[in-house]
Amino acid sequence: MTQELAPVSERTEVADGIFLLRFTSAHIAHTAQPGQFVNIRPVAGLSPLLRRPFSVCRVEKNDVEIVFNVAGAGTRILALKRPGDELDVLGPLGSPFGFGEDFETAIMVAGGLGIAPFPFLTQNLRGRKVETFVGAGTAGKLWLEHLQAVHIATDDGSKGFHGNVVALLEEFLGSKNLENSKIYGCGPTRMLQALSDLAKMNDLQCELSLEGDMACGIGICQGCPVERVNGKKKYALVCTDGPTFNCNDIVLA
Ligand SMILES: Cc1cc2nc3c(=O)[nH]c(=O)nc-3n(C[C@H](O)[C@H](O)[C@H](O)COP(=O)(O)OP(=O)(O)OC[C@H]3O[C@@H](n4cnc5c(N)ncnc54)[C@H](O)[C@@H]3O)c2cc1C
Ligand code: FES
Repeated sequence: MTQELAPVSERTEVADGIFLLRFTSAHIAHTAQPGQFVNIRPVAGLSPLLRRPFSVCRVEKNDVEIVFNVAGAGTRILALKRPGDELDVLGPLGSPFGFGEDFETAIMVAGGLGIAPFPFLTQNLRGRKVETFVGAGTAGKLWLEHLQAVHIATDDGSKGFHGNVVALLEEFLGSKNLENSKIYGCGPTRMLQALSDLAKMNDLQCELSLEGDMACGIGICQGCPVERVNGKKKYALVCTDGPTFNCNDIVLA
């Protein structure tokens, strides 16, 4: 893990209100693994004070990309960064997705900006079959770069399946034999709950990346608990034990 002032090399609005920031950090680019995140301080001053976490979306040589939507003060400031500005970045943080297990097909399922960790995971799954399910409120909010075999769901029906992305996956699982598959999910908690239920019903491995509120990002403030199903400790910390968890190990509230 490193903390550094990383120069921004690109800022692009890739979909309505969705921004890609690319910055140079040889350390993060060469050590990050899919599913890990970086914690970025939007300004040097006091407001907003806390760092904001973002999944590592992709790496290329010494560059790292994140993708985010404008949610509040922090992301509004980040959306105004320009090439040459510096980003105060801490990372890579958290535990990565597991992909060494024995499975044929990786099924990635994203709700909204839950798409962020999947280009990097796709980069690292060479040789495996991939199916990617992407859900968004409407077509203008879709960002589909660097993915494979994409299936789209929109809440308003403006593109692809009319409905939520887990319902689309359920339909797909009903029509294919995907027994030897592993599901990777990232998105809002309600979507992850539904995805976890579907994985269990179909007896599929399933790993989820949680995007709940976070503060320090390094296990100090205890501000990111998630209930464990079993284990000596009742709670795990999303920032250090996660953000990726086997769906059988946690209780999503
Ligand atoms: C491990 C991890 C990885 C993440 N990766 C990404 C990513 O790649 N791209 C991305 O766009 N976002 C990601 N997020 C969420 C992102 O960190 C928040 O959207 C961001 O911190 C909001 O900061 P803000 O100052 O703009 O908004 P704030 O002013 O802090 O919040 C604005 C509004 O958004 C809500 N909000 C804040 N954080 C979250 C959250 N985590 N989930 C749901 N609602 C929230 C607040 O309750 C508030 O209503 C990730 C979160 C985690 C924990
Ligand atoms: S965010 Fe501080 S302990 Fe997890």
